[in-house]
Amino acid sequence: MLVLGVETSCDDTAAAVLLDGRTILANVVSSQDQVHGLYGGVVPELASRQHLQNILPIIDGALEKAGVTLKELGGIAVTRGPGLVGSLLVGLSVAKGIAFRWRMPYVGVNHLEAHLLAIHLEYEVPFPYIALLASGGHTLLYCVQDVGDYLYLGGTRDDASGEAYDKVAKMLGLGYPGGRLIDNLAKTGNRKAIRFPRAQLKKSPYDFSFSGIKTSVLQYLKSQDQEAWKTQVPDIAASFQEAVVDMLVNPTVKAAVAQGVNRIVLSGGVAANSRLREKMKERAEAERLQVYFPSPKFCTDNAAMIALTGYHWIRRGRRDDFTLNADADLTL
Ligand code: KG4
Ligand code: ZN
Repeated sequence: MLVLGVETSCDDTAAAVLLDGRTILANVVSSQDQVHGLYGGVVPELASRQHLQNILPIIDGALEKAGVTLKELGGIAVTRGPGLVGSLLVGLSVAKGIAFRWRMPYVGVNHLEAHLLAIHLEYEVPFPYIALLASGGHTLLYCVQDVGDYLYLGGTRDDASGEAYDKVAKMLGLGYPGGRLIDNLAKTGNRKAIRFPRAQLKKSPYDFSFSGIKTSVLQYLKSQDQEAWKTQVPDIAASFQEAVVDMLVNPTVKAAVAQGVNRIVLSGGVAANSRLREKMKERAEAERLQVYFPSPKFCTDNAAMIALTGYHWIRRGRRDDFTLNADADLTL
């Protein structure tokens, strides 16, 4: 079955065509980073306007690349939440229009669920697995027992890990989005230069907190002369990153050991981070756990993971009707 996936939850307009839930025939993403970069973060009004301009060319581009027509599709899967409501509505309305015109099944997909399942685009990972979802909007830990069966283990109490990356990058004057910029810069810095505190929530070992590290970096910058810290940016980036990576790796490995699950899967934009991948692998191997990482293009927002998730639900008989609405706060 051919499934068209559509994703417009935040600032990327994406479409993909997937055959039988595993062969990616097309995966097209149009990033709005340049537009939002001017403001140091996503501007919701601009995001929805950009989606409106991009959505039809992106869908046409994906179909053309896949060499298929709308008529040949077996279904359409579209993100219905969580995300920015104005952005979600663009993708959802277009998907409903296509489904109505061509009388094909369509399903609204939970963006978080799609991140948790994205690994299956590239690897055959048996259930269950411990999944760390670390993105710009979320930092969550689940035990994924099957499609549709997600056991919540913990989540962030304040900022998401990607948000901490983006805010610290802004403080350092690096630009937006900050994750990849800090990741690259940190490669030239000393990760032991500054010891930033690692938040650990004693009573809830699988929860995270990233607001403290953000404040610590700000305090460090304020305590220094600007001329002085400007020369230490790679060291600050590397030290900040090391603390974030520790705060992500420790609860994840602990959860896998405690749950007796020997597979860890990473997902979300922050899972593209090179140091996180390296350290998670080291720590997991020491505990005899297997770790799976999606390629960076499937860590960040993409429509292939939406098509994959939709495929599983369509195959299980789920059909959404045209009253389905976008839900900015949708949970799993
Ligand atoms: O999953 P995603 O594309 O969108 C959301 O659903 O949020 O994640 C975007 C987040 C941003 O905060 C970005 O700075 C971060 O992922 N990110 C990274 C890296 N690449 C993207 N963070 C750390 N290292 C990276 N290499
Ligand atoms: Zn995402």
